[in-house]
Amino acid sequence: MRVAMIGTGYVGLVSGVCFADFGHDVVCVDKDPDKIAVLNNGGVPIFEPGLADLVAKNVRARHLTFTTETRDAVKNADAVFIAVGTPSRRGDGHADLSYVYAAAEEIAGFMDGYTVVVTKSTVPVGTGDAVEAIICKARPDLKPGEDFDVVSNPEFLREGAAIEDFKRPDRVVVGTDSEKARAVMRSLYRPLFINETPIVFTDRRTSELIKYAGNAFLATKITFINEMADLCEKVGANVQEVSRGIGLDGRIGKKFLHAGPGYGGSCFPKDTLAVVRTAQEAGAPLKIIEAVVAVNEARKEKMADKVVEGVGGDVSGKTIAVLGLAFKPNTDDMRESPAIAIINKLTAGGANIRAYDPEAMDEAKQILPEITYCENAYNCIDGADAMVIITEWDQFRALDFTRVKALLNTPVLIDLRNIYNPVSMARQGFKYISVGRPQ
Ligand SMILES: NC(=O)c1ccc[n+]([C@@H]2O[C@H](COP(=O)([O-])OP(=O)(O)OC[C@H]3O[C@@H](n4cnc5c(N)ncnc54)[C@H](O)[C@@H]3O)[C@@H](O)[C@H]2O)c1
Repeated sequence: MRVAMIGTGYVGLVSGVCFADFGHDVVCVDKDPDKIAVLNNGGVPIFEPGLADLVAKNVRARHLTFTTETRDAVKNADAVFIAVGTPSRRGDGHADLSYVYAAAEEIAGFMDGYTVVVTKSTVPVGTGDAVEAIICKARPDLKPGEDFDVVSNPEFLREGAAIEDFKRPDRVVVGTDSEKARAVMRSLYRPLFINETPIVFTDRRTSELIKYAGNAFLATKITFINEMADLCEKVGANVQEVSRGIGLDGRIGKKFLHAGPGYGGSCFPKDTLAVVRTAQEAGAPLKIIEAVVAVNEARKEKMADKVVEGVGGDVSGKTIAVLGLAFKPNTDDMRESPAIAIINKLTAGGANIRAYDPEAMDEAKQILPEITYCENAYNCIDGADAMVIITEWDQFRALDFTRVKALLNTPVLIDLRNIYNPVSMARQGFKYISVGRPQ
């Protein structure tokens, strides 16, 4: 099949290269000429494990090309994916659909022969209807159901494990009532059919809502265990053992039960807000998700307070070493990372921040230009009054604490990801503060 991928960001590039690896001919389009230039020169504009090799392999096999020209990509395509951003609209939390609508209008101009237009971007219920209407308006000569279909196919990949998630997903969701479009989607995902990946065929609106319901549920799970961690701190219980104790119950499950500094990233914050807005407007408010959004927002501030407490109640003039800036390990994505709010609050309190992240520092410099960036973890800790682990990169899991203790001014470690053992840290002479565990 011939595929056009409109938008070559995290989702578009990963989806495009994986479809190419399935054997389809894929053209990835992006408006950003710098991104396309990097890709055409053999580079990859984002950090994602395994991505550079897979891109190189499929470019060599001539299954994958990159362009800024929508026309060439769309006119020959059997399926055109819309994988552009849907950030929060300023002020009201709604998903900003302007990129999706602009892409739909542009695609319409170049469609030739039966085309399936697929929204892979996360979009509110009813967006597929709007995309269809935009195409009909731009091209009155085309009839939905005959010349084209608009299908919802939300993406569930996780940054940091994106290729594995795309190629071995828990499920694929396809929303359309058109048999013709289903046949195209079946062909596109044929390797997954062979693997017996469950494919959920449903209508377009249900498919759109499945994506938001999924993210809202996961955000709720994280927020639930974070609140439990606060309770554990008050009553002298251990949240890690609570997680294990409840997670072994098959109805609950172990994943997303790690207490920490709150969820961030490019999806959960904006998607929870967007579904809250959709629900309010539909007259069926999601009170639980509204609470999740508020609790998570407050959590980041609370984590900054934990650091302040750790250094004796006042960070003014203190040097704080921050390990990890990305919203999670194995990505350079800084969007809505809890590190931003935590660092901003500490800086406002007069702290000097030294920071190190293995991949996210270029991104971080755009958002947090005033802090000091370091070459590695040890260089970051050197001379600091306390260190804080915000992102649990593997390289922070086995630090040499004899060296760490020698480098720190005072042996204070605030571990917001619970990666170390409180007893062993205390034995090594650290003031060790973690999340929801007895000190
Ligand atoms: N990042 C994730 O982990 C993830 C996971 C699942 C779903 N999603 C959803 O996928 C969508 C894309 O997210 P992302 O993280 O890949 O965004 P991104 O910002 O990394 O990439 C979007 C790209 O689209 C390009 N673009 C915008 N308008 C265009 C147009 N008209 N023509 C061509 N290119 C255009 C931008 O230049 C940008 O490179 C969002 O709706 C997001 O919610 C993201």
